[in-house]
Amino acid sequence: MAVLAVSCSSRELVEADYAVVPLPESITVEPQAQAFRFGPDTRIVASDSAQQVNARLFAGYVKTLVGFEPEIVTVAPGKDFIRLGADIVNGNSDAYVITVNADSIVVDGVTPAATFYGLQTLRKAIPGAGNFEVLYPAGTIADAPRFAYRGAHFDTARHFFAPDSVKMFIDMIALHNINRMHWHLTEDQGWRLEIKGRPELTEIGSKRAGTVIGHTQDSDSIPYGGYYTADEVRDIVKYAADRHITVIPEIDLPGHMLAALASYPELGCTGGPYEVWQRWGISDDVLCAGNDSVYAFLDDVMDQVVELFPSEYIHIGGDECPKVRWTECPKCQAKIKELGLRTDEHSTAEQKLQSHVMKHVADHLAAKGRKAIGWDEILEGGVDTSTVIMSWRGTEGGIAAAKAGHDAIMTPNQFMYFDFRQSDDPSEPRAATWGDPLTVEKVYSYEPIPDSFTPGEAAHIIGVQANLWTEHIPNYRQAEYMEMPRVAALAEVQWSKAPKDYDAFFERLKRLTKIYDAEDYNYRKTYFVQPDSLAVK
Ligand code: ACM
Ligand code: ZN
Repeated sequence: MAVLAVSCSSRELVEADYAVVPLPESITVEPQAQAFRFGPDTRIVASDSAQQVNARLFAGYVKTLVGFEPEIVTVAPGKDFIRLGADIVNGNSDAYVITVNADSIVVDGVTPAATFYGLQTLRKAIPGAGNFEVLYPAGTIADAPRFAYRGAHFDTARHFFAPDSVKMFIDMIALHNINRMHWHLTEDQGWRLEIKGRPELTEIGSKRAGTVIGHTQDSDSIPYGGYYTADEVRDIVKYAADRHITVIPEIDLPGHMLAALASYPELGCTGGPYEVWQRWGISDDVLCAGNDSVYAFLDDVMDQVVELFPSEYIHIGGDECPKVRWTECPKCQAKIKELGLRTDEHSTAEQKLQSHVMKHVADHLAAKGRKAIGWDEILEGGVDTSTVIMSWRGTEGGIAAAKAGHDAIMTPNQFMYFDFRQSDDPSEPRAATWGDPLTVEKVYSYEPIPDSFTPGEAAHIIGVQANLWTEHIPNYRQAEYMEMPRVAALAEVQWSKAPKDYDAFFERLKRLTKIYDAEDYNYRKTYFVQPDSLAVK
C-alpha cells in the first residue's frame, strides 16, 4: 500500500488505484495534475432520491475502509465533493464516467445503476482499510460492461440460508458488479417460498426429517427446514434492487419437485406417498404431466411468483427430469395421445411432453409480460425461441440455442460451478460429488462467445453466471468460501472487454482481497500463499 504521509488529523494519506476488479475499460490518469483528496470534510452530492440511495450505500462502504462516514448533501459546495449523476448518454445503460480533479470527483452514469458501478470502482480503488484520507489521482475513467446479464445463482433449497445471509450474498455480488441473483427456491429437499392459499407447501414441503451425512447415504435424522415468507421475499427483492440487482426466482419443474409432491401427493404419477428428500441426486418422482390439477397448481404458483418478483425473467427449471414415471403413467400416456406426440429422431414422446409442460408455464408467464428461462435440457423436446436457455451441461446447449435464435446465458459447469473444489488438493472442501477442480485461473480463462459466431449469434449470448449448489454447503461462511475469490474471476469474464492477462488480473485480485478482509469475508486465502498451477483447458 502506498502510504504517502501522515496528515495533521493523524490519518494516513493513501493513494487510490483505479485498476480494480473488474478492470475498467479505460483509465486515463494525469500525473501532473493535482489529485483529489478525499477526507472527512468531503461531501457526497446526490440531488435526487435514486442517487441518495447510491450515496448512502457508498458512504457505508467507504466508512469500513477509511474510518469516517462522509456527509451526504443535495447541493454541491464550492469544492471538495463527490457528485453523483445519471446524465451521460450511451447505448449501454451500465456505462459510467468518473472525472477527477483537485476540487471534485464526478461520477456520472447513464442510469443510477451505472453510477453505482462507478461508485464501486471508487470504493475498490481504496487500498484496504485504516484511518485514511485517500488521494484519487486526477484523470478520467470511462467504463461499460461487456454483458448486460451478469449473474450469480444461489441454491437456498438444499440448505436454507436465513434472509440476513441472502442479503450478505447480495452485498458480496454487488461488490463484483453482478446484477442478477438467480434464486433457486424449490427442490426435492425443500420448498422455501411461502405461497398464499397453499400452506402445505411450507408446512410440509419446507421440512425434511434429516439430511444425508457428508458423501455417505446415511441420514443424520435431524429435522431440518426453513422458508421465506412473502414479506421476507419482498424485503430481499428491495434490498437487491437498491444495489441494482434483479432477483430472478427459480421454481424448478417438472422434476426436482419431491417437496411439492410430499405436500400434495395427488400431483405425482403414482399418488405417493412421498417424503421431502433427505439425500441428494435426481428423483424419478416428478410432477405428473397428465394431470390437469398440476397445470392449475403451476399457474397458481407462477401468479404469486410474478406478484412477488418484478423481474422480467422467471426461471422455470426443466433440468434433470427422468421420464420413467411418465412412460408407465396412464394419465401421462393419455396426454401424449391427446396431444399427438410421437417419438422421432430428435426427441422421445416423453421429452415432447416435458416441452408441453414448459410451454404451458412459459405462455402463462408471457401473458403476464414475463419471459421464461430454462436449463438446457428443455431444448431436447423442442421449445420456442422466446424462452431463454441457461447452458449448464457444458457450452453446447447455449451455443446451439444462440444459433437457433434463443437468447442464452452461459453457466457451463466446467467453468462456472462454484460447488466444485477450488484446487486438486484432496483436503480442499468440495460441495459437489462430481466435477473437476475449478481454479480461479480456469474461471478467468472462460470465453463465452465462440470465435466462429456471427455478430448476430454473439448478440444472443446475453450473459454469464456462476452457480452455487449447496448440497454440501451447510452454512453461509462456507458459501462465501466457495464463492471467493472465484467470483472475482467471474466478474472480469462478465464485465471486462480487455484481452485476458492472468498475471495482471492476479495483482488486481490481491488488492481486492484487502476489501474482502475489511468486509470480513471468508475467502480462500491459501490461494494467495501458493497459487494453483492446474493446466487451464
Ligand atoms: C443443474 O445443475 N442441474 C442445473
Ligand atoms: Zn403421470
